[in-house]
Amino acid sequence: MHHFTYQEGRLHAEQVGLAEIAREVGTPAYVYSQATLTRHFQAFARAFSGLDALVCYAVKANTNRAIVSLFASLGGGADIVSGGELHRALAAGVAPSRIVYSGVGKGEAEMAAALKAGILLFNLESPQEMEVLDQVAGVLGVKAPVSIRVNPDVDAQTHPKITTGLAKNKFGMDMATAFAQYQAAAKLPHLEIKGVSCHIGSQLTDVRPFADALERLAGLVERLAGSGIRPGILDLGGGLGITYNQEQPPQPDDYAGALKQTVSRLGMRLVLEPGRVLVGNAGILLTRVLYTKRTPVKRFLVVDAAMNDLIRPSFYDSYHAIWAERQRPGLETAVADVVGPICETGDFLARDRELPRLERGDLLAVMSAGAYGFAMSSNYNSRPRVAEVLVNGRRWAVVRDRETYEDLCRGESLPPWMD
Ligand code: LLP
Repeated sequence: MHHFTYQEGRLHAEQVGLAEIAREVGTPAYVYSQATLTRHFQAFARAFSGLDALVCYAVKANTNRAIVSLFASLGGGADIVSGGELHRALAAGVAPSRIVYSGVGKGEAEMAAALKAGILLFNLESPQEMEVLDQVAGVLGVKAPVSIRVNPDVDAQTHPKITTGLAKNKFGMDMATAFAQYQAAAKLPHLEIKGVSCHIGSQLTDVRPFADALERLAGLVERLAGSGIRPGILDLGGGLGITYNQEQPPQPDDYAGALKQTVSRLGMRLVLEPGRVLVGNAGILLTRVLYTKRTPVKRFLVVDAAMNDLIRPSFYDSYHAIWAERQRPGLETAVADVVGPICETGDFLARDRELPRLERGDLLAVMSAGAYGFAMSSNYNSRPRVAEVLVNGRRWAVVRDRETYEDLCRGESLPPWMD
């Protein structure tokens, strides 16, 4: 469900025509719908309303300050994975007591910054990291609130690049190691055991792997209680999928329903780290057709957005629907690749897609681009990163300026011997 609809044949974000945004801001541009973001957050939070649950938005999915602030204002916390994300979350007004910090490679300076801020939880991913955090907390004279990220060895049945809960993945600690490390943590002077965590993958379209992971965590929690360790927080990570094409992911209510009974039985405070499900379908990438090109074997629509702006099709072979900004009933369709200007064959946004026969100058919306779109964009081919726009009803605003050529070169200098 989202608020990108045709009104009198023209594609709108809520009440604002995308053609107007393209005219004023140029293309490519990301356009987000505040009504969709709000609705998704509230639907997700409501699904867990019977439980003591905290929704920590996975900032990595879309780091724009307007979006992080919006979720903070709706009562959300943040799931962060770097010092940069900590900085962004704090700047956006997320309460430190609602921030959880995951990731296999937290640096000492990053740990110190998060300790000084007073975050809710560090999800520890290795024994060595645990020792380092204990030392860093010791130097600061504080106790670090910790949880162990367990790798439950559950197949999330999603793309291999975004599967995180299998034994062969780099994430978390296996059950036996986790149990032993909880005993070790209990003896470390500068750690305070607060939780048990997991995150098994992203874009899950079935509740079963979540339920299986929870069962395994529940087993660990019970074993820990037997050894006198009683963590109060259960962090189940993120991962709920969205519809890009034909997928039928569980609705937040089904997801919550599959977890509620066990969570209630354990009587723990629940933390969730949704990213994609909150922002994915709330954003599009607006782009313009530069050229139509026909070769003896294919048709191409060369557009002004490229893999540096949205890498998901190239990187994960992922599907994003493409909608023409202008509906032209009766216009013939043709199968084409939608490609960008970057000098790589892997630079495409869609392949072999049946689309209306568009022309040079036409606008297109690459749908479901709100998650891992701008956040994964780069300056490859020296392309300035694009503008981001937030729409709210009839109003809209640029929430990140398009980069300039000066921005591209910022921080570069010649070494003294070349002056
Ligand atoms: N928590 C942790 C510890 C994570 O690593 C992630 C995502 C999330 C929460 C949020 O997962 P979500 O609810 O968004 O599925 N770039 C890929 C997705 C990578 C996900 C990485 N971790 C993509 O474009 O599909």
